[in-house]
Amino acid sequence: MNNFEFYNPVKIIFGKGTIAKLREQLPRNARILMVYGGGSIHRNGIYKQVTDALNGFQYGEFSGIEPNPHYETCMKAVDKVHKEGFDFLLAVGGGSVIDATKFIAAAALCDGEPWDFFIRKKPVEKALPLGVILTLPATGSEMNERSIISRVETNQKLGLHSQKLYPKFSILDPETSYSLPKRQIANGVVDAFIHVVEQYLTYPVDSPVQDYYAEGLMRTLIDEGRKVLLYPNDYNVRANLMWAATNALNGLIGCGVPQDWSSHRMGYGLTTEYGMDHAQTLAIILPGVMEFKKKEKEQKILRMGNVLFNIHEGSVDERIARTIGEVERFFRHMGLKTRLSEVGLGEEAIEAVAMPIEKMQWKLGENENITAEEARKILRLRL
Ligand code: NZQ
Ligand code: ZN
Repeated sequence: MNNFEFYNPVKIIFGKGTIAKLREQLPRNARILMVYGGGSIHRNGIYKQVTDALNGFQYGEFSGIEPNPHYETCMKAVDKVHKEGFDFLLAVGGGSVIDATKFIAAAALCDGEPWDFFIRKKPVEKALPLGVILTLPATGSEMNERSIISRVETNQKLGLHSQKLYPKFSILDPETSYSLPKRQIANGVVDAFIHVVEQYLTYPVDSPVQDYYAEGLMRTLIDEGRKVLLYPNDYNVRANLMWAATNALNGLIGCGVPQDWSSHRMGYGLTTEYGMDHAQTLAIILPGVMEFKKKEKEQKILRMGNVLFNIHEGSVDERIARTIGEVERFFRHMGLKTRLSEVGLGEEAIEAVAMPIEKMQWKLGENENITAEEARKILRLRL
């Protein structure tokens, strides 16, 4: 196992009716800015639960954070923070709202250009404290230090991470997820599954704790993912999915093991260029990465096939092909597409993926050997 340091201070409050506990988490004299998205919280009753819990506190609102949150929108929120003097941010939403809130927290206290956090890797020196009420299990942003922001002006989607951006608390009430459309439920399951894959499907470093933990999460996401399609009102299914998604990207399974993240980085180009859902980009690209990197990932792909899909027999090549097939079948079962042609794209999409990699000079993957040229080859496998 490789050396590592692990730090995660996020307090998790999990279960039915837990939004009412918001009051106990907030500093008494705080000026709170509640940040949310396009309005789903008005339709499903979450807004009312949150504002009831905020009764007696000083608070304001900033709404309109879009999926794949825009830098430009976040900077409007930063203006509001400066003008009205908010000192605590409360994100109410999915990954986009949480990521936006983290960026607002850092940008509000940043001297200079906040975009430098992304392009120059300028460290976040300070940030406003923030709390989270999660409404969409998917990204793990509720329990991590990452934020992914898109800048419309430059057509870029880039990530930032800083220990200053861990939420102080996250309230995870699985009942908030009942109102999700099927597409977002499926996106969440597939995104969380691929977060595990990015931290698992590399090369072995003798790390049974991380491997069994990752396999448990993938097993759960496959089983509960299938169940949620059949029994969308089953509380336990919703609870298991929410907790699995949080665990998939809270840092633990990534401790001391090599990590890939190439599918994620490649996917950003498809989102900026075509507005494709984050999880949909991954469902198309991951099978290509598995195929293209099957020699480097051979031992872990065989182990994955064995543990998750009961693939025990056949030649190495056959077992690898069947495992990739099973992963793809799972994404399709959840309702996602796995080919560029199925979402109406062709050769042009290959450049949309390759260009940002070329521009940023990224070398992706656990062996840092996926450049724009390899990305083109991977995408060509997914036409
Ligand atoms: O904006 P509203 O009206 O709230 O609607 C949202 C949005 O349209 C809706 N929604 C959320 N909760 C709902 C609901 N609709 C009904 N009922 C509810 N309870 O769902 C739509 C999608 O929301 P969004 O937050 O965009 O989805 P998700 O949680 O999948 O987040 C995706 C973003 O997270 C980033 C992605 O790149 C993307 O920008 N990621 C962040 C990561 C992190 N911080 O660690 C890691 C991930 O890999 C990912 O990159
Ligand atoms: Zn993701």
